[in-house]
Amino acid sequence: MSDGSEIFLLNLRVNGRAHRVPVSADDTLLDVLRRDLRFFSCRETCGLGLCGSCTVVVDGRAVSACLAPAFTQDGCEVRTAEGLEDTDDLHPVQQAFVDEQAFQCSFCTPGFLMSTVAMLEEDGPADVESALTGHLCRCGSYRQIMAAVGKVAGDGRDGTGE
Ligand code: FES
Ligand code: FES
Repeated sequence: MSDGSEIFLLNLRVNGRAHRVPVSADDTLLDVLRRDLRFFSCRETCGLGLCGSCTVVVDGRAVSACLAPAFTQDGCEVRTAEGLEDTDDLHPVQQAFVDEQAFQCSFCTPGFLMSTVAMLEEDGPADVESALTGHLCRCGSYRQIMAAVGKVAGDGRDGTGE
């Protein structure tokens, strides 16, 4: 039985840059992103796949990094919130969150951003509620978050829940 001490050399790309990271059998993608590569937008809260705060985009899909074994991510393309803006401008999803003041402490925000990006780029703006299911905001900014996501998804939300 594994004691988690086996070491694998993990090759992955994060925000367009290649990395090679030694990982053990029980490391998660979240461990690699925060501990090894210092992408602190990926936040651990529950560690159980229940809150969405660790969400990143892996090969175009929103993934809970706390649940993804690191060694299964070999060769993957990972995007985090650090990779969203270009040199001058916020990503349109980030700008919508600013415009709608869709955060208070912002701890949950990177996760919401990455699920929204995955929804828009992968699936289209069809189902905002489904895309954000599983994301928790302890500050209760849901109305503003849904307004921001609705704005970029073009579904006409105005922050009133309508
Ligand atoms: S920390 Fe990953 S879902 Fe909560
Ligand atoms: S803004 Fe504080 S947890 Fe969502």
